[in-house]
Amino acid sequence: MMAKAIVGLQWGDEGKGKITDFFAARADVVVRYQGGNNAGHTVVIGGKKYKFHLLPSGGLQGKKLVIGNGVVVNPKVLIDEIEMLSRYSKVDLMVSDRANVIMPYHIAMDGIEEELKSKKIGTTKRGIGPCYSDKIARYGIRMGELVDEDLFLERLKSVMEAKKKIFDAYGLQFDINSIYEEYSEYGEKLRGYVGDTIYYLNSIIDEKNVLFEGAQGFLLDIDYGTYPYVTSSNPVAGGITTGAGISPKKIDEIIGVLKAYITRVGAGPMPTEEKGMAGEHMATKGNEFGTTTGRKRRCGWLDLVAAKYAAMVNGVNMLAITKLDVLDGLEKVKVCIGYEYNGKSIDTFPFHPSILEKIEPVYEEFPGWDGVKGKKRYEDLPLKARKYLDFISEWLNIPIGIVSTGAAREDTIIIQSD
Ligand code: GDP
Ligand code: IMO
Ligand code: MG
Repeated sequence: MMAKAIVGLQWGDEGKGKITDFFAARADVVVRYQGGNNAGHTVVIGGKKYKFHLLPSGGLQGKKLVIGNGVVVNPKVLIDEIEMLSRYSKVDLMVSDRANVIMPYHIAMDGIEEELKSKKIGTTKRGIGPCYSDKIARYGIRMGELVDEDLFLERLKSVMEAKKKIFDAYGLQFDINSIYEEYSEYGEKLRGYVGDTIYYLNSIIDEKNVLFEGAQGFLLDIDYGTYPYVTSSNPVAGGITTGAGISPKKIDEIIGVLKAYITRVGAGPMPTEEKGMAGEHMATKGNEFGTTTGRKRRCGWLDLVAAKYAAMVNGVNMLAITKLDVLDGLEKVKVCIGYEYNGKSIDTFPFHPSILEKIEPVYEEFPGWDGVKGKKRYEDLPLKARKYLDFISEWLNIPIGIVSTGAAREDTIIIQSD
């Protein structure tokens, strides 16, 4: 029996949804451990696109789904997504009683806090940051409370009364009664799904195949990412321990998802950003528009300095390289293997955006190729594309298990996977 994790190694949107769907075929349980509906994970089957924001992307494989204690839950979004999935599959879901609930004031605050900042982050405006802030400040309302009418009313009153002065300062007004009415209805609909996922997961972790699905990506991690241009949770594999209640000893394999180039939505430094033709090629061919907000993603060359940092902290033992087909048709393909800052070479990922904004990437260049799209066997890939893959694997010293050559489920090359 195996516990595997799928984690994003860049700024999100690496194709975690597709890779999770692939590994979910052999899993019994698929678990989200952090983030909320800021995530947008896409699975494409039979030409149809399915988007997951809160439910694990293993949903279409009909597997048991778990939303762990580290996730922040917008109950309305969850109800809608359960309804969506139930059109295609059975929904066997358990949501942690300890997961924090995204409230209407979190969504309002997300917008206002962005307005107040002179340097905007470009959040998804889903209330993620304010909800995690309240969790840490101990103003959170948890799913176990939402689904219990008495507990909910008491907690809602005490939290909203305590926060009233903050709301006033922000010029916000909320009516406790109408929030109570709306949210207790959500609570009623979700009651049957909420339980103690920590005991549940620990009871099965040695007997079943469990797959943990990260949201966002390592460079958006609140601790390791390009702070303050990050999200408010820990997408890193270590987040599984705090976000699902599983000991680090229990995770057998960590699969790092790496796009063959790099993208970023929202603000913040991006050393290998390509504003010219190559970037346009990636955006257009890769259809780089956000799954959640529809915003255009910034595109650039694969950054192996950042990837090495991500692989080190996550403890990645296998890579899934996605969207290799998007590089089809480029004259040359570049990959960043170092940085220069103030005339000096650096080979580590700097901590501060002011440094990241000024560094010059050092590139290795590869001749371009064509014909990756839709390939299903490694041997059928163009030799030049294989050389690119070999370079990535050798440079990071991590084997490549999966190469994705298209959005569809079947456009997947399996090199190694157990
Ligand atoms: P996630 O957030 O990491 O799950 O990634 P998203 O779903 O937000 O973004 C990845 C996008 O690329 C989605 O539209 C996928 O359908 C698509 N995609 C995934 N893998 C591939 C691939 O190998 N090639 C192409 N062309 N598209 C892919
Ligand atoms: P998936 O799981 C890409 C970005 C936002 C913003 C920053 C903070 O689909 O890879 P937040 O709303 O989380 O407070 O926004 O993080 N961001 C993502 N970018 N993919 C995601 O998720 C993201 N989730 C958040 O654009 O820059
Ligand atoms: Mg996404």
